[in-house]
Order: sequence, then C-alpha cells, then structure tokens
Amino acid sequence: MDSQILTLDSADWFSPGFDRRWIDAVEDGKVLHFPRLAFSLSAQEQALLRPELLRPGVRNISLDSTGDLKGVAGEPAVQAAAKTLIARFSAGAKGLVDSLFPAYAAHLRAAPTSLRPMQVASRRQSWRADDRRLHVDAFPSRPNRGERILRVFTNVNPHGEPRVWRVGEPFGSAAARFLPMARRYSPAEARLLRALRVTKSLRTEYDHLMLQLHDRMKADVRYQREAPQETFTFAPGASWVCFSDQTLHAVMSGQHMLEQTFHLPVDRQYNQQASPLAILTRLRGHALI
Ligand code: SIN
Ligand code: FE
Repeated sequence: MDSQILTLDSADWFSPGFDRRWIDAVEDGKVLHFPRLAFSLSAQEQALLRPELLRPGVRNISLDSTGDLKGVAGEPAVQAAAKTLIARFSAGAKGLVDSLFPAYAAHLRAAPTSLRPMQVASRRQSWRADDRRLHVDAFPSRPNRGERILRVFTNVNPHGEPRVWRVGEPFGSAAARFLPMARRYSPAEARLLRALRVTKSLRTEYDHLMLQLHDRMKADVRYQREAPQETFTFAPGASWVCFSDQTLHAVMSGQHMLEQTFHLPVDRQYNQQASPLAILTRLRGHALI
C-alpha cells in the first residue's frame, strides 16, 4: 500500500503555504502531516495539561463558537486560561485550513473545538465506541447527507509522548470490501428513528452506509489485524489534517491533543468525485441522498 501520509514542512498556522497537490492528497483521503507546525503553549498553559483538568465523568473539554466552555474542572482562573488556549488553537486551525484550501473558506462550519487530556491507551470502551479500531467517522444521531468532516489535530503532550495512529487503506477499497455486507437501507426505519428523535434529521442511505462501514470495520477483528495499514507517530509539536469521514484511522495511544472539526458541503470540494458520497454512489449505482 502506498503511504497515506504526506509530510510537509510548513511551520506557520496562518501562512503554511499552498500547493494544489496537497489539496488533491487530502481530498484523496490522505493525512497531511506537519511535523514542524507546533502549537505553542506558555509555561502556565502547559501546567493546565493534566487529566484533573477534566470535570469528572467527561471525556473531552470543548469550546463552541459562542464561547461556551464545557468539561473543565476548577476555579474561574483555570477556566479562563483553558478558554484562552482553546480559542487560540481554534483561530490557528481556521487560519491553517483557510490558507491550505482557500475555496473552502467561506463554506466551512466549525464544530466546537476540543482539548483531549485523557490517555487513549487505557480508555475502556465498547467495540463500537473504541477508536483504537480502524474506522471512518460517522455519527449515529447526526445524519450529514454527504457533508464532509475535515479535522485539524495537534499533539500538545508536555512529556514528549507521541500520539500513535494507524492509518488504513484508501476509502474506495475499504468500501468495496464492506459494502456487500452492509445491511439494506430501510426508509421506514429511517423515518421511525427520526420520529423517536434517535436521529436529529432523516438518516439517508448515505448516512446508513457510512455507519455500516464504521461498524462492520470496527467489528471485524481480522480486518483490524490484517488489513493494509501503517502505524504513524505524531510527535509533540506536530499537527495533522485529514477528512476523517474518508481516512481510515485508529488512535492507539497518546495524551493531550487539541482538535478542531469543520463541516464542508460536499459540492464545495475541489474534486467532488473524490468524496465518500461520490465513491459510495458509484459502488451502489444509484443516488444515496
Ligand atoms: C478519532 O478516532 O477520531 C480520534 C482520534 C484521536 O483521538 O487521535
Ligand atoms: Fe475517528
């Protein structure tokens, strides 16, 4: 398998450079890896990076675009410092994607920004929620009708610990492998899930198939072990970008990461034909949304 990771030399969040080949790579499902694109923290900010920063029972800290901070334990000064740090990362992540992918800029919708202070390796989860298994991102309650999930990550571990990922085969080959096993889409079931408010809007056939890929892949222990894949180490001070609804990924270990998700309408991609929606539509042979 060709490497699915493209390593780039950029070191500035707001002027990382521009190259059409980088766009083609990310739209082809590859990970753009920036080993020199560090997100700098002051000494006080570094001191915040402890699991105790998390309010008990929550997995991540998040900050939304209205300035609402969730998940932080501690006094107002700690809350304010966490907020400043996360907001600064959010601005950097937006600067980065606006420069790398200028045609997306006006159409991106930012999800809340997250800080993840938990150690991944020791987390206990059901197989379906276990992101240590290769998967593509797909969310059961939030159908997106083919809208893209673009994510920016940065490893801010203060103790030199890398974040270790596995990156799998290209989306098209994984989809061709798992689609024949996918359960059939039922419009009646989709309407019921909507009525019961299990989903926030109608689950389309596209959303159904993406969830099937997510689940079948995670449930297949042999696939997890034997599928084409590479293990990749993101050092502290490195950042990376991918379409996580397309890149097969798994996180094996690491602690303290910042993450920003953007949603992008599929028709705002440079090459719409490279999208999971286009690939699944070709494989299925009919419209999915
Ligand atoms: C994910 O699977 O989307 C999480 C990635 C990570 O925590 O590094
Ligand atoms: Fe994921």
